[in-house]
Amino acid sequence: MALTAYVAPIVDSTDVFKPDIFKGKVLFCTGGGSGICRAMTEAIMRHGAQSTIVGRKLDRLTQAAQELSASTGKTCLACQGDVRKPETLRDAVAKTIEKYGRIDFVICGAAGNFLAPISGLSENGFRTVMEIDTIGTYNTIKATLDHVRKSRGAYIHVSATLHYNGTPYQAHVSAAKAGVDALSAVLAVEEGPHGVRSNVVAPGPIAGTEGMDRLSAKGPDRSRHGFELIPAGRMGDMRDIANAAVFLFSGAASFVTGQVLPVDGGTEHMRSTQ
Ligand code: HXC
Repeated sequence: MALTAYVAPIVDSTDVFKPDIFKGKVLFCTGGGSGICRAMTEAIMRHGAQSTIVGRKLDRLTQAAQELSASTGKTCLACQGDVRKPETLRDAVAKTIEKYGRIDFVICGAAGNFLAPISGLSENGFRTVMEIDTIGTYNTIKATLDHVRKSRGAYIHVSATLHYNGTPYQAHVSAAKAGVDALSAVLAVEEGPHGVRSNVVAPGPIAGTEGMDRLSAKGPDRSRHGFELIPAGRMGDMRDIANAAVFLFSGAASFVTGQVLPVDGGTEHMRSTQ
């Protein structure tokens, strides 16, 4: 199939949405110290929200919180926590409520990954990724739900597209992310009557992320590898994911819940035609 030379533009959400749509709102984001989750946090703060970011490495988290505050003019609280340990999430939620008094939006973003075939994957390796991605998502929902109900807020779960097919060396993450998608769907159905929405963002190939670096180490020309398989004509940018998060948390998505939104430039549909 011949593709045109069109390359989808990268835009900032502030070019599309008003800068104050999240004024007075509070975001709680696991994994917010780096990568895609940090980019989502920054975009939501740029629209007026204050935030808490949760992660394991306090030094990196503290630096990220300072940089996010400086670039957005909004407050960002750094809370050390491990999504595998519910008590650390409860502690981060308590600190968030103490500081801001509410939680409106939750991003369940903390994740772990490495490449390993099933034959070379230890029981503990499989369990570790399930515990971070799937059980960590459950733990985050449990720790925040009462507050999100009060604010009639919303969840975004960061998943992936690799479990739509049998992606080699990714059994652990594929199983874990399928579980994340399922949790989000059930949350949407159960909590819809309480005014809570829940959606999944499924990033495709996003440049500059730890996940992409780990999965695409194919040699010196890897930055060009696979471009012909991306209908949008380019690698994804973290801002593409951030823009999707702004939309899904905004009032423009008030009738959107229980959905999985792949942000992948059409890659998965392209793959299915191979
Ligand atoms: C095989 C491995 C391994 C590897 C770890 N393990 N790395 N097995 N190949 N490369 C095994 C270990 O041997 C151990 O099993 C078990 O996993 C736990 O490892 P630990 O290092 O003790 O765990 P921990 O310190 O908690 O680290 C968790 C982690 C790590 C997932 C292993 O990589 C991590 O913290 N990652 C966080 C950052 C990250 O991965 N970000 C990328 C997310 S991208 P044994 O049997 O030896 O005890 C993403 C998107 C996916 O999720 C989609 C992309 C397109």
